[in-house]
Amino acid sequence: MNKNSATILVSRMSANINLPRILRVGAGASRELVATLNELGLKRPLLVTDAFMVQQGYCARLQQQLEVAGMPHGLFDNCVADPTTDSLDEARAVLREGDYDAVVALGGGSSMDTAKAVAVMASRDGQMRDYKVPHKIDSGLPIVAIPTTAGTGSEVTRVAIITDSESREKMLCMGLGLMPVAALVDYELTLTMPYRLTADTGIDSLCHALEAYVSRKANPFTDSIALTAMGSIYSNIRTACEQPDDRPAREAMMLAATQGGIAFANASVTLIHGMSRPIGALYHVPHGLSNAMLLPEVTAWSVPGAPERYALCARHMGMAEPVDSDSVALDKLVAALRQLNVDLSVPSPKDYGIDEDSWFGSLELMAGQALASGSPDNNPLIPTANDISKLYRRVWQQ
Ligand SMILES: [Fe+2]
Repeated sequence: MNKNSATILVSRMSANINLPRILRVGAGASRELVATLNELGLKRPLLVTDAFMVQQGYCARLQQQLEVAGMPHGLFDNCVADPTTDSLDEARAVLREGDYDAVVALGGGSSMDTAKAVAVMASRDGQMRDYKVPHKIDSGLPIVAIPTTAGTGSEVTRVAIITDSESREKMLCMGLGLMPVAALVDYELTLTMPYRLTADTGIDSLCHALEAYVSRKANPFTDSIALTAMGSIYSNIRTACEQPDDRPAREAMMLAATQGGIAFANASVTLIHGMSRPIGALYHVPHGLSNAMLLPEVTAWSVPGAPERYALCARHMGMAEPVDSDSVALDKLVAALRQLNVDLSVPSPKDYGIDEDSWFGSLELMAGQALASGSPDNNPLIPTANDISKLYRRVWQQ
């Protein structure tokens, strides 16, 4: 038993696991929307999505199902990337105009976050900022989530991130009211995802699984799911990027994204996500891409905190041989993650076009924001602000 798992057993006698009530997983799951709503006794849903989903025809397919079933419904199709309290107000106005008893979220993380926020604000006064962490949002309209990326895992988490339009703060909102009652996980919706989105959201999922496995809040339930997810993602992500219509690869990635979501929702993320959010907030780097920029170097720095766990990850993903010693497996893990970034054309912050003076002038600010998120405290090796600044320096030009 390694030190990390010993810590977990001593400090956590039981694990608290939250999940949606219904998970429908596989080809055609999104065609089961009406059956799902009926099963839950829901009759008047508001569809929440974005213009791209409308343009792709995915939204019309859901509307057609509802029309055939004679189920009255409404539509808000103006979700934006990185939703703000202003964009949320628009959706709240649409919700107030109808007599809805459920919210159906169709899209990636931003649409799901918008839908979740609308659902919990349906019966609340005030603004989303009044309900950010540490407030616990325990109730709201039932949410049915239909993810179209593989992905954020938001369909199985009790979290939404909404940016305060006034302060520009990326607010973390949490509570069981934000947990979907049902998730329809249909990989057929991902067959048209472009290369960059497939790579970025796929690495986000890989980070969810890896961070959940090495987290100080890991537990036996999340361990098994995290290992399964990381193995699937590592062996399928290149194929899913290069051959977008490869159905087995897409199916494996979609299932693993949901599994990665379950793992981190119940074990937390660690230093990669903690450092990633400030990059997104300051430089508008997509979430998965900023995770990818950090993944190899933050892992290399963190492995001394849980070497046996990280070595097991390397063997499980096939990066190392079963007979390799831990130290050999750890070297191979870091090398394989660096190579994955090369293969998936992940740019450094410099190559992404971020201004050098701005980056190096923001190290303290970003380190402070990373620490304030709490995620670094779950890392096997807990960093100081100075450690985090050094890591930001190191990833600048990998
Ligand atoms: Fe993430």
